[in-house]
Amino acid sequence: MALDFLGMPKNSSLRRKTALTADVRRKLLTSARQAMKRAHAPYSKFRVGAAILLTDGKIFSGCNVENASYGMTNCAERTAIFSAVAKLGPKIEIRAVTVVNDHGVPCSPCGACRQVIYEFGPDATIFFQGVDGNPKQAHITELLPEGFRLQ
Ligand code: THU
Repeated sequence: MALDFLGMPKNSSLRRKTALTADVRRKLLTSARQAMKRAHAPYSKFRVGAAILLTDGKIFSGCNVENASYGMTNCAERTAIFSAVAKLGPKIEIRAVTVVNDHGVPCSPCGACRQVIYEFGPDATIFFQGVDGNPKQAHITELLPEGFRLQ
């Protein structure tokens, strides 16, 4: 079977069913942690980092960027996704998302971010710390059942 540089099958239908390697998981975690350090979170004091893996193997990261007008805050997940779209255009497909925070507490993507992840990753897997404190992974449709789509 032909594999790409991440060790994933090149055939797109096989790629989706293949679990991420430990090495790719580690890369996502490292990338999310680095981005977390760049967060602008003076109001909540809760720094968040996210890394997204695209189906072509590229990784983008983002942090939360807060504002004195609180509602203008952008979450880490959306920062990462918008950054990927700004660089590559809207035809990206998200394969996985990893989210971390500097309090080491459970933190899954908020509702708004779930909808944005779904837009670009209807088959994405999300890695985060679950409510029981353990690492957890969930398909985006588990986090956002019947997500909204146009077309
Ligand atoms: N936040 C994220 O960046 N991602 C999440 O998944 C949850 C919440 C941010 C938004 C705000 O800056 C801070 O965490 C506290 O809510």
